[in-house]
Amino acid sequence: MQIFIDTSNIDLITKWNQTGIIDGVTTNPALLSQEAEDPITILSKISEIMEDRPVSAQVTASNHKDMFTQGLKLSAISNNIIIKLPANFEGFQALQLLNNENIKTNITLCFDPVTASLFSSAGATYVSMILGRTDDFNLQQSSLIERTKKIFINSKTETKILAASFRSPHQVELAMAQGADVLTIPPSTMDMVFNNPLTLSGLGDFANAWKKLSQKDRDQYEQT
Ligand code: E4P
Repeated sequence: MQIFIDTSNIDLITKWNQTGIIDGVTTNPALLSQEAEDPITILSKISEIMEDRPVSAQVTASNHKDMFTQGLKLSAISNNIIIKLPANFEGFQALQLLNNENIKTNITLCFDPVTASLFSSAGATYVSMILGRTDDFNLQQSSLIERTKKIFINSKTETKILAASFRSPHQVELAMAQGADVLTIPPSTMDMVFNNPLTLSGLGDFANAWKKLSQKDRDQYEQT
């Protein structure tokens, strides 16, 4: 299982890259639009930071020929760029064109294992299965990864299930337990994982209890 970070912010990518946790980056037009620099410059910088690890860059065109042309252009930024295509029929046709060029792809906004299965049969490298957006609208997609995984195991596909759009550690746990190959986690959700309120309040309890010890005993324990 691999962990990607779902952001276009260079500072946050640098921060999480230094931890050694992340195996790749995913971006999308909404994320790129939040940054001050132009999207091509940002993607170049992210690709450089990630070295040979994958960086997803999404097309914005709406027909397959333009998606293909844009995919070629984005792919020329760096060898580690993965072209993100929408999970619709235009994206399906663009996938076939990019396959002919040996360009790796990530099919995004997949909400249905059947859609994911058709794209995997056509040779997609990743399918991005979206969890947070469904929970936002109470659509109960808690078994999405499990159902997709079952089909992928049966079909022996090499396409990787990339679980995405996490709002909470609970959604991350579901994706991990159900066999996602990759999880792309936004920095805000990563922060939640490392700031569990029970961990923080437990640390507060320990610190308060510690103050009851004599200074001498504390110093003896803490001197390095
Ligand atoms: C997936 O392809 C997107 O990059 C992202 O994970 C979607 O997240 P959002 O639902 O928070 O926009």
